[in-house]
Amino acid sequence: MASLNFPDIQGFVLSSYATKMPCANYFLLKITDVKNCRAWLLQVLPDITTGTDRKNDFSLNIAFTSPALKQLGITDKELTTFSPAFQEGMITATRQQILGDTGNSDPKNWAWGNEQYSVDILLLLFAIDETMLQKRVDILKNTFVAASGIDLLQILAAGRQPDSKEHFGFLDGVGQPTIEGTGQKERQKNRTGHATELKAGEFVLGYENEMQKVDPLPATGTMPEFGRNGTYLVFRQMEQHVYDFWNYVKTTANSINTQSSIKDQEKLAAKMVGRWPSGAPISEYPDSDPAPGSTNEENNFSYATADPSGFGCPIGAHIRRTNPRDSLFDDPDMSTLTVRRHRIIRRGRSYGDRTQDVYTDDGKSRGLHFICINSNIERQFEFIQQSWVNNLGFSTLDHETDPLVGQRNDNSVYSLQGCPARTRIHNLPNFVTIKGGAYFFMPGMAALKELTREPGTV
Ligand code: HEM
Repeated sequence: MASLNFPDIQGFVLSSYATKMPCANYFLLKITDVKNCRAWLLQVLPDITTGTDRKNDFSLNIAFTSPALKQLGITDKELTTFSPAFQEGMITATRQQILGDTGNSDPKNWAWGNEQYSVDILLLLFAIDETMLQKRVDILKNTFVAASGIDLLQILAAGRQPDSKEHFGFLDGVGQPTIEGTGQKERQKNRTGHATELKAGEFVLGYENEMQKVDPLPATGTMPEFGRNGTYLVFRQMEQHVYDFWNYVKTTANSINTQSSIKDQEKLAAKMVGRWPSGAPISEYPDSDPAPGSTNEENNFSYATADPSGFGCPIGAHIRRTNPRDSLFDDPDMSTLTVRRHRIIRRGRSYGDRTQDVYTDDGKSRGLHFICINSNIERQFEFIQQSWVNNLGFSTLDHETDPLVGQRNDNSVYSLQGCPARTRIHNLPNFVTIKGGAYFFMPGMAALKELTREPGTV
């Protein structure tokens, strides 16, 4: 097992800071003057949280888009050593097609990350409470003076809801892989009853991955191992249409059974997610939520033997599509092995207030700042998005996409497998709209320091 260079890895790769630091602000920055920007980077460098820091008040991490790296002196030739998706960015026609960013989610409608509001640097700030958050926001804002070479485009507020549920009302952040060599496995096992430990190279560059390979590192002329201990960070601002979701669920539950109760609606919604609002997996608890009003982080389950036909957790449910576990192919072992190569670590947090009434449009925007880390954007995040979430022919299904986050047109359907016959629900609208996004590179600490150095100097 490789031993990880923790002081060189940014802390966010290893932790979401969610338990200790529920408050967060994400700064979207633009470089206006490269020389001054290097000086600014040098100024914030001591505050960047590493994998060995155990901070109790605030954490700060930083990531860059490919245009930012270019401005900071990385040549076109050197950039070709980075992931093609990262080089290209999230908004090209190819990427749009891969990600399904069309219609209302078309980048031309985005609030950031498109051509009009392009982003260079992402600064992620986490704090123990709102007072500490504000204090650190003020300190950072003071560094963005005219001479800093940085323009502040936007601050995106985010937070962990006190009950850890996302806006549709379901416990979030349960099914996560752990990184070999970090000691996360035992903690995860104690919490959820199960841990899928993956090779460090799936999430940190420079280590062996699930293909028993160490991929070539992004390299520069002066730093041949520039990519070591870095990772790629995917950021998508996903607005959630909570009232559309619950009104659809209510109407549809009523159309299946005119006498439908709130419990029937909750069951239909859980069939779309794959877990009950408490987090309990529906494949294990097909009839009702075993922990209503509480949490259940059970993760010790699979589908091939316990629920092969999707009678408990439908084949196309959000969690079964995004992590099919042992049910991708007929051979459960081959499925598990394959699925291990397409995992991400989710580090997203909600934004916007919790709605008071899920059936009424209060005109406020709310959603998920979806963030994930992976060492290979194409094989991990983009594969999940294209081949599983938005794949009309996923598994044995026909003309369906992920019922929660899939992109679709008016003729969409969703199958609830059952015996003697399946039930198909129709005309699912899009419950999520993409409002912004970008691919970032989160460098190791040595590479970050290298970025503060003017090319040609020692
Ligand atoms: C607004 C957007 C989204 C919402 C509300 C949402 C919600 C959820 C919920 C409630 C769960 C179950 C709890 C858990 O295991 O954490 C979950 C799991 C998961 N989601 Fe999402 N999600 C969203 C977007 C996405 C996207 C875009 C992806 C990837 C492309 C994704 C990938 C996953 C994965 C991999 C799991 C874990 C599945 C498992 O291990 O069983 N999610 N999500």
